[in-house]
Amino acid sequence: MMQPAKTGHSARAHWGLRAPMTFLNHGSYGAAPKVLLQKQRDWQDRLEDQPCLFINTELPGALRRAADTLAEFLGASPDSLAFVENTTGGIGAILRSIPFVTGDEIVVTDHIYNAVRQTLHHVCAQTGAQLRVVTLGLPVSGPQEVAAQVCAAVTGATRLVCIDHIASASAVIMPVAEIVAHCRAQGVPVLVDGAHAPGMVDLDLDALDADYYVGNCHKWLCAPKGSAFVRVAARAREGLHPLAISHAYGSGFPDEFHMIGTRDWSPALTVPDAIAFHQQLGGAALRARNHAVAVEGAALLAERLGTQAGAPDAMFGAMATVELPQMLYSPEPPERPTANALKARLWDAHRIEVHVMPLAGRLWLRFCIQAYNERSDIEALADCLCQWLETAKESRA
Ligand SMILES: Cc1ncc(COP(=O)(O)O)c(C=O)c1O
Repeated sequence: MMQPAKTGHSARAHWGLRAPMTFLNHGSYGAAPKVLLQKQRDWQDRLEDQPCLFINTELPGALRRAADTLAEFLGASPDSLAFVENTTGGIGAILRSIPFVTGDEIVVTDHIYNAVRQTLHHVCAQTGAQLRVVTLGLPVSGPQEVAAQVCAAVTGATRLVCIDHIASASAVIMPVAEIVAHCRAQGVPVLVDGAHAPGMVDLDLDALDADYYVGNCHKWLCAPKGSAFVRVAARAREGLHPLAISHAYGSGFPDEFHMIGTRDWSPALTVPDAIAFHQQLGGAALRARNHAVAVEGAALLAERLGTQAGAPDAMFGAMATVELPQMLYSPEPPERPTANALKARLWDAHRIEVHVMPLAGRLWLRFCIQAYNERSDIEALADCLCQWLETAKESRA
């Protein structure tokens, strides 16, 4: 279908990313290659060619086949998987299907994604459940320490553990296998937020066997936006409903999730092509290559800035965090507005797109390595920050 692509800057021709710029933020919203956007448009053309015939006759089977292909890629049994619009919606559907009551606790960490935290606040306000936040801080020392801290927060009152697979704010890969195993032994359900995982790390969702696993295909699998999924263990399907109830109400999981009113399913229908594109770029070898460039980049940045990485190498995938020197922002507080101002300055002055995150009382650079990035992108970022540091030192001398 597509030409085999190399990695590095030559691979960037597959994407419509604007030049010149250093794009080190694939993680926020992904970026879909041109060829996959064309595949998506082909599906839209098929829909508009005869909308009634397509939606009533062609779509159900095509959607199921796309979901089955994704399930195979993720190591999930086909009946455990359904598409949703995005991770936020998938997690919303799950949280709003669980009958929490006053006194229930939901265990989360301080690395949780803000939109998920907000959903949890809403659910707690509606049901009387409470959040129990485990403070991991940053840097984290290792997977055993993280697992021990999360598991220690699980008590008889815990109704759910909601844990990131790969946290957005810290880029840390959480020890989800250990946490799921512990919780299963305690009879406590686990919801894994895998927004960043598909295409970044190897997955075997049936082996992990979390009660609920939600992930995006538009980030690291590069599918068009609007292609996420929920994987639900058989024991957790009873009472689970999508956010939009429609004709299939009562027919259970996964069918209810694929009938939610009229919508454009072309992003989900393009997922098999996205998987094929990912495999052509190397599949597991691409994931390993992106990880290698990311940890090398973290070491380079930490050394040149005189700071530290947010975690040991093995706890990073294709994203990493490195502490920003306080000299670059003090006396401003290490909070979101300061982070946003630094991020905007990098873009305005140098056309570098990279995330800056406030966490644990400091600011952190969060950078991402996709097929189209190379070490020189990190060097460009380091050069620019070192220049800023020199200027800051001179102005304080
Ligand atoms: C950890 C995590 N969870 C959830 C989300 C939400 O994903 P979406 O915006 O696709 O719903 C993100 C998005 O970046 C994320 O990083």
